[in-house]
Amino acid sequence: MPTLETTYMGLTLKNPVIIGSSPLTSTLDGLKKCEDAGAGAVVVKSIFEEQIDSQSAQMVKESSDYVAHTDGSDFLEEVSRNFYIDRYVSLIEQAKNALDIPVIASVNCRSHGSWVDYVERFGAVGADALEVNQYILPNDMYTTSQEIEQEYHTVVKEVKKSISIPVAIKMGPYFSSLAHTIKQFDSYGVEGFVLFNRFYQPDIDINKLNLKPMVNFSTEHDYGQALQWSALLSAYLNGDICASGGVHSGETLIKLLLSGAKSVQVVTAAMRNGLGIISEMNDTLTSWMEKRGYESFVDFRGALAHKRLEDPAVWERSQYMKSLNVEF
Ligand SMILES: Cc1cc2nc3c(=O)[nH]c(=O)nc-3n(C[C@H](O)[C@H](O)[C@H](O)COP(=O)(O)O)c2cc1C
Repeated sequence: MPTLETTYMGLTLKNPVIIGSSPLTSTLDGLKKCEDAGAGAVVVKSIFEEQIDSQSAQMVKESSDYVAHTDGSDFLEEVSRNFYIDRYVSLIEQAKNALDIPVIASVNCRSHGSWVDYVERFGAVGADALEVNQYILPNDMYTTSQEIEQEYHTVVKEVKKSISIPVAIKMGPYFSSLAHTIKQFDSYGVEGFVLFNRFYQPDIDINKLNLKPMVNFSTEHDYGQALQWSALLSAYLNGDICASGGVHSGETLIKLLLSGAKSVQVVTAAMRNGLGIISEMNDTLTSWMEKRGYESFVDFRGALAHKRLEDPAVWERSQYMKSLNVEF
């Protein structure tokens, strides 16, 4: 029987299927269910920068009638900030006591701020790693691309300085030079790259004429971007790639391992079809490995990555030179 054991960011995972940050991982009960269903690791539902910084400031502002004294507002801001952080830290601590698999904390942020000073508390209660999900919507017409990129670099460097556990950056694909940006993050010592984040986008309700939330679930065809970039970059980085987005089957998991990913994250498929998808994926992987006589991932991981191919240019194509010989 082949082993599915993998390493990701220096952590040992019994298999490469991680349940990503989502409602599935927002409670201790949910996290335990992921472990019971066979997950290799879990990423806890993110704490948001706003919960640490802005909401505390907002709460102070709203209370300003009552808190005229600066000491009082400082105190209130600290209490509010601590409420969210304490709750999150407590969830991580409980999860670490209850689960044997790695527990990865997650912060969702835009920019650097005082929240960075608090992340070390996650490591202190035993979080195995921290995933930083940073995204700046570039909608300000007066902010240059260099200024935006600088902000990403500041966050990554400051987080790396503030915490001693491994750090993964959950990336969006929208960088003019994605490879260069990732390589620079790699040079700061980032241990993991989650490719890619999936962004929330608002929708319009045409009957009520207002905005409504749109949950951005993936389809089984959405793994192509993670596959291509994992193949292009995996062999050239010190950090590990965790592929995310559209991982719905064991076949896709195998493709991503062949591209060089060390692990995958799954959310939509588990929310839609239940956590049984974890063992389905691992069973498909096991029988595929058995059929080919592979004993561990060392035998095949990254075999189809850019660096390992005689003609790697196929991974670099993004325009159709000719259409496929398929009748649509
Ligand atoms: C309902 C929902 C909530 C999510 N919440 C978070 C979150 O808090 N933090 C985060 O980094 N990603 C969050 N994500 C993104 C997932 O972790 C994952 O990156 C994304 O869904 C792509 O994987 P999938 O194709 O398997 O769904 C969320 C996704 C969904 C569908």
